[in-house]
Amino acid sequence: MFSHLEPLPADPILGLSALFKADANPEKVDLGVGVYKTAEGNTPIMRSIQEAFNRLAKTEGSKVYIAPTGWPGFTDAALDLSLGAPLVHALEGQIGAIQTPGGCGALRLGFELVNHAAPGTTVWVSNPTWANHVPTLKAAGLDSKVYRYYDRATTSIDIEGMLEDLKGAKAGDLILLHASCHNPTGADLNDSEWDRVIELIGERGLVPFLDMAYQGFAQGLEADAGPLRRAFEKLPEAVLSYSCSKNFGLYRERTGALVVKSQGKDAAKALTTNLARIARENYSMPPSHGAALMTTVMQDEALRADWVAELGEMRDRVNTLRRTLADSLTQKGYGEQFGAVGRQTGMFSLLNLTPEQVASVQKDKSIYFPANGRINVAGLTEANIPYVADAIAAVM
Ligand code: LMR
Repeated sequence: MFSHLEPLPADPILGLSALFKADANPEKVDLGVGVYKTAEGNTPIMRSIQEAFNRLAKTEGSKVYIAPTGWPGFTDAALDLSLGAPLVHALEGQIGAIQTPGGCGALRLGFELVNHAAPGTTVWVSNPTWANHVPTLKAAGLDSKVYRYYDRATTSIDIEGMLEDLKGAKAGDLILLHASCHNPTGADLNDSEWDRVIELIGERGLVPFLDMAYQGFAQGLEADAGPLRRAFEKLPEAVLSYSCSKNFGLYRERTGALVVKSQGKDAAKALTTNLARIARENYSMPPSHGAALMTTVMQDEALRADWVAELGEMRDRVNTLRRTLADSLTQKGYGEQFGAVGRQTGMFSLLNLTPEQVASVQKDKSIYFPANGRINVAGLTEANIPYVADAIAAVM
C-alpha cells in the first residue's frame, strides 16, 4: 500500500526553520515563518497569557474532554473581538461558531463545510496568497481560481484588475480575502476599495471567506476588523477563519475559530451542529489549553487591557522595523523597489526579488525567507537591518 510513496520536498515556509537552525553562520537571520520576535530574537509568551497560565494551573483541575464547539466562552470571546458585540447581537440566530485547531484548522473546517453544502465550489484566491491556502482548499475537495491582487512592478494593489477578475466569478463562488495584513504582500485594500469589493460580492451573489490571522497588527484591533464587519453586516452569507496564533502569541497551542453567517432556517443551530459533525469526523474536539488562556485574558478586565497594550507595543515595533529597512534601502538608491515596505502592514512584505536572488542571499549571507521574496518583518532587528539591507543591495 505505501511502497510507492516518495519523500516530499520540505514545506516552502516551515521547511526554512530547519535550514536556519542547521546554519553555523553567527550572522544568520531568520525572516521565514511568520512569528513575532523581540530584539533578542525570542518569541515570548505574552504577559497576560503567562498570568492566565499561572491561574489556570491552579484552577483547571481536570483534563476531561471539552465539547466539540470548544472551551466555554471561547467562541464568544473570539466573536467579541472580531465582529464586535453590537454586530454579534444584531446577527443573533444567523451565526454559527466553533473553536478550531488554529487558523489553519479553521480554514480546513470552513472549506469542508462549503464542500458539504455545495460540493466542488470554486474558491477565488488572490495572486499571490498564503502558500497553504490552495493546498488546504484542494484537500477539502474544492477548486481554485486566481484573481489579480498585487502588482510587483508597481508594488501596489491592482484593484481594477481584481474587480475585473471577480466579475468573472459565478454566483455561489467563494472569494477568499485576507481581512487585514495580507500574507504574503503586506498590502491591504483601503476602505473605499473594500467597499467596492463587498458591493461586487453582493451584486454577484458571491460568498466572502475572510481569513483573519493578524488582527491588531495593521492599524489596531478595531480598525483591522472594519472590513470584516462590513462584509458580515451587508452580505447574506459570509465565513471567517480566525487565528489567535500571532495576536495572542499562542502559535503551538493551535487556537482559532470558524464563524459562519447564513440566513437559512435555524441557521445558528444548523451551522454549529454541521461544523461539530465535521470536527468530530476529523479530530473530535479542539485542544483546550490555548483557548482557556485566551478566554481567561478576555474575561478579565486588567488582563485584557494589558494584552491590548502589549499587542500595541508589538505592532509599533514591527512598523518601526519596516520603516528602518525601507529607509536603509532607499538610502542605497532602491527606494522605488522597496519603499513600499515602509508603508505596508502586518508581519510581511513581498520583496521584489527573483527566486535566484533569494537563493543567493540565503547561500551567501545566511538570510532565510521563502523563494517568493516574502520577508517576516518581525524577524528584523535594529542590529541586523544594515546586514540585511547590504545583502539585498548586493544582489540588485
Ligand atoms: C506564515 O505564513 O509564515 C505563518 O502563517 C506560519 C505558517 O503556518 O505558514
